[in-house]
Amino acid sequence: VLALMLTMFAAGCGAKDDGKEGAAPSAGEAGGTASADGAGAKVYLIGTDASYAPMESMDKDKIVGFDVDFLEAVMKEAGLDYKLENAGWDPLFTDLESKTHKYDAGISAISITDDRKGTFDFSMPYFESVNMILTKEDSAIANAQDLKDKKVAVQGATTAEELMKGIMGETNASLKRFDSNTVALLELEKGGVDAVVADFAVVQSYVQSHPDKKFKAMFDKTNFQSEYYGIMLPKGSELKAKLDPAIEKVRSSDAYKEMYKKWLGVEPDTTDLLK
Ligand code: ARG
Repeated sequence: VLALMLTMFAAGCGAKDDGKEGAAPSAGEAGGTASADGAGAKVYLIGTDASYAPMESMDKDKIVGFDVDFLEAVMKEAGLDYKLENAGWDPLFTDLESKTHKYDAGISAISITDDRKGTFDFSMPYFESVNMILTKEDSAIANAQDLKDKKVAVQGATTAEELMKGIMGETNASLKRFDSNTVALLELEKGGVDAVVADFAVVQSYVQSHPDKKFKAMFDKTNFQSEYYGIMLPKGSELKAKLDPAIEKVRSSDAYKEMYKKWLGVEPDTTDLLK
C-alpha cells in the first residue's frame, strides 16, 4: 500500500510553467549554489518554520536541521540559487496560497495530504514520518484512544491537530492548539497538558534532549499512519519539474543516509521510500 501511495505521489499533478522565472531578473549575487543559466539567475526564496528540531530549528541566528541539509543537496543538484528564511508555520501556508506569494516554496517537515493538495502542489515525497505521543514517564496513557478525555497540546494546522480532532472531537476544548510546536512542548513541561502529539523525529529528539525531565514517547500504528514530507509549492509552480529529478537523486544517495544519521541518530529505513 505504501509503495502504491508513493507511486501516486511521485506521479503528482503535472507542473505547469507559470513563467515566473523569466519575469524575475537579477538578484544573481545572493548566496546559494551557482546557477548555470547565466544572466539574471533567480534566487528562490524558501520558507520554513524553524521550531521543529531536528527537522528545522534555530541555532543562534542560523537555521539548521535535516530539512536544511536536504534542501541544500537538492538545490545544488538542481543547480538553483536559493535563500532559506524562517517564516513561521501559518504565515508560510498563507503566503504560498496567495497569488502574490513572496516565497517560492516551503520546506518544513510538511506532510503531503489530500487536503493540502487541494490548495498547494508538492514535490515528490522525500521523508517518511508518523505522529507520535509524548507524555510524562509516569503517565498511564498508552495509546491515542487514551487521549480522548485528556488535555493534549498540538501545533495548530498540523496533521497532529487533524488526527487528534478525529479522536477527541472537532470542538473539544481540551485539545490545545499552539502556533509553534515549541510552545506545545513547553505546555507539557509545565504540566498544563497530559500529552503532546507531533512527528516522531521531533518527539524522540525532545525525549533524548531532556533526560532529566522523564518524558516517554509512544507510537500508535493503529491510529497514526505513515505520512510523507514534500516540498510545498504554490499551485502550478514551475519548480516541481526542477525539484523532482533532484530529489529523486538525493534521496537515493549516500549523502541522504548521512544527513539522516546526523539528525535522527539512526540509519533511514527507506524500504518504502525507495520503492
Ligand atoms: N508533519 C506535520 C504536518 O505536516 C507537522 C509539521 C510541522 N512542521 C514544523 N516545522 N513546525 O502537519
